[in-house]
Amino acid sequence: MIALGNDHAGLDLKNHVKAHLDERGIAYKDFGTYTPDSCDYAVYAEKAARAVADGECELGLLFCGTGVGISMAANKVKGIRAACCSDKFSAEMTRLHNDANMLCLGGRVVTPEQAVELVDIFLDTPFSGEERHARRIAQITAIENIVPEVKEIMNNVKIMTHPLIQHKISMLRDKKTGTNEFRKLVEEIAMLEGYEALSDLPTEDVEIDTPIETCITPVIAGRKLAIVPILRAGLGMQQGLLSLCPTAKVGFIGMYRNEETHEPVSYYCKLPRPIEERTIVVMDPMLATGGSAVDAISQIKKEGGKNIKFMCIIAAPEGLEKLHAAHPDVQIYIGHLDRELNDNAYICPGLGDAGDRIFGTK
Ligand code: RB5
Repeated sequence: MIALGNDHAGLDLKNHVKAHLDERGIAYKDFGTYTPDSCDYAVYAEKAARAVADGECELGLLFCGTGVGISMAANKVKGIRAACCSDKFSAEMTRLHNDANMLCLGGRVVTPEQAVELVDIFLDTPFSGEERHARRIAQITAIENIVPEVKEIMNNVKIMTHPLIQHKISMLRDKKTGTNEFRKLVEEIAMLEGYEALSDLPTEDVEIDTPIETCITPVIAGRKLAIVPILRAGLGMQQGLLSLCPTAKVGFIGMYRNEETHEPVSYYCKLPRPIEERTIVVMDPMLATGGSAVDAISQIKKEGGKNIKFMCIIAAPEGLEKLHAAHPDVQIYIGHLDRELNDNAYICPGLGDAGDRIFGTK
């Protein structure tokens, strides 16, 4: 089934293409517009594009004056790769290389004869399936998945772009990296992220005698910080933060979900007191579904925690969204925002199971 959509300037061309599809016996669903009255192309682009994105239609054809406006609108729908073409080479390549799922044509650009040629090429050319093209398409999808969520919650999220962090995360991803090195890297990344996450740590003035004179100078208000790794993978990050702030107090939290009630249950929670007066850094290397981070932070709040930060090494957009929705007051520090979760709730491309790789349990 082919989705069709157009504005007034694309109406004649669509009707011409429809007659051609009828001749070829190709089924289509026409989302309008059906009259020559002036209308807004985005409305019809969206209707047809949603039918393609939802799988109701396999491919789509869109028509406006230039083909450009309607392609821009269609490309705003998640999952749509709409190509505006006026030559045969592009119409073929956009299937072979981009796996385009909508072709956009300009009623004021191409003739009806050219249009049916372009449509035939588009409909009859399969995606090449080559690895490099699949990879590039996955990158397009990644932008689509990440950008909207992050944009919305950007104020609360800090993604670490420092080359040292990025380099070390790449080393972590490598499946050839052994336990010893993995553990060290996790600790180092936690330290580098901690440098940023603790940039607003409260200080207090003390009097110090330098070899020259006495001065009043700031030091970290030591009793004000609590580091709280989520058991067990968070333990791998703990030392990284402690090397920055050796006087910090450390709490631990372990959560599981009751399989019947699906309610979070804390099986271990020991927090330094008074927790309500401390800056609390909750740590877990992976923010996947967001379930344990959300539950752990809820538990810490129940115990009185107020000023909470969450630090992870890699995150999936799904987990980030969930954590932000549940705890919009929590500042989130992420080493790298990955593409997505797979069906087994693993982060992709990810680094595997951080707990197993830190503790060598696999
Ligand atoms: C309508 O006049 C025209 O602007 C529209 O069909 C399309 O060409 C926009 O990109």
